[in-house]
Amino acid sequence: MNKVELKPGIYYVGVVDWHLRNFHGYSIHKGTTYNAYLIVDEKIALIDTVKAPFAGELLERIAEIIDPADIDYVISNHVEMDHSGAIPAVMKAAPNATVITSDPSGLKGLKAHYGSDFEFQQVKAGEVISLGKRTLTFVATPMLHWPDNMVTYCPEEKILFSNDAFGQHFTSSKHFDDEVELSQVMADVQGYYANILMPYSAQTKKALSIVEGLDLELIAPSHGIIWRSHIKEVLNAYKYYSEGSTADTALVIFDSMWHSTESMAHSIAEGFTRRGTAVRLLDLKENDLSDVITEVLTARYIAIGSPTLNNNILPNVAALLSYLKGLQPKNKKGFAFGSYGWSGQSIGLVNQALEELGVEILLDPIRINYLPSKEQLRDLEDTISLL
Ligand code: FEO
Repeated sequence: MNKVELKPGIYYVGVVDWHLRNFHGYSIHKGTTYNAYLIVDEKIALIDTVKAPFAGELLERIAEIIDPADIDYVISNHVEMDHSGAIPAVMKAAPNATVITSDPSGLKGLKAHYGSDFEFQQVKAGEVISLGKRTLTFVATPMLHWPDNMVTYCPEEKILFSNDAFGQHFTSSKHFDDEVELSQVMADVQGYYANILMPYSAQTKKALSIVEGLDLELIAPSHGIIWRSHIKEVLNAYKYYSEGSTADTALVIFDSMWHSTESMAHSIAEGFTRRGTAVRLLDLKENDLSDVITEVLTARYIAIGSPTLNNNILPNVAALLSYLKGLQPKNKKGFAFGSYGWSGQSIGLVNQALEELGVEILLDPIRINYLPSKEQLRDLEDTISLL
């Protein structure tokens, strides 16, 4: 295995999970990485581990640098099992190590997952440990995106070990932001933020205010590539997302049974185009929910359409609305639309869901019985173009 050094004595020892495509419901297209880092000083610290099935690979990487039995500290920035799953295997190989975790949620979470058999040390925000030449400071980042989250800063090396924050489900044999196509990574930054961090924008803003005050040469997250040449870009992206900023873009998101709602979606898209707004037409039969959510993050307008099925919404649209309810997008304007045969509840239900999300409703629910006529479609386009 190739050794990857962030700086002299600081190593990447994580693993690449090339084949994963579903990350607890979030569809990812490139797999992911579980990044762990080893700092070799007078004391040896391992920062985060990996998902349990990859524990052997993690230990092999460590063993090429030091004897795993010599690890003094295992720092758990986050209890979620993609980063803590290998703690039991690491602690078996390093029985004298102490697990460092946040006080109190980290300890509670780790004990619930792995029992109480390890030597634990709880740390609060601002606490510092010395490794010898270097120190590590712990910064609490609760609810980014679990209660236990913290990040670890090494001031002597100007490295922030940021765990999930600034991560991406991006894979490559390369590890640094200037070794890969930046636009691809930034697209995955947006996907990660949208699907994981969107509901925690207030906490993100708070964490950003701390991070922006740090002297940084590297941000080393626990997923994807390490930031060294484009730190400003990723911080700016997080600022943009956490402030709920939007672009003049409309998403016309729908499912359709016999193409009537689909015809309405096309007319709505034409209307937005006439008013000069960039439009994306997203048929939920063809588009992955997670990708739709990634676009929702920065879109200003969302028009959501569903015909009525059994007095209700089509399942794909119901899934979207349920996902949105959890993610709580901010600063959206929109409306509901759809065709119906005899009852037509779906359009009102979509409208209600949008209201509950806090979407600014631009139009009363737009309903068309059975097949829309050419005139109805033209009127619809006109209405949207004048919004
Ligand atoms: Fe990558 Fe919240 O774990």
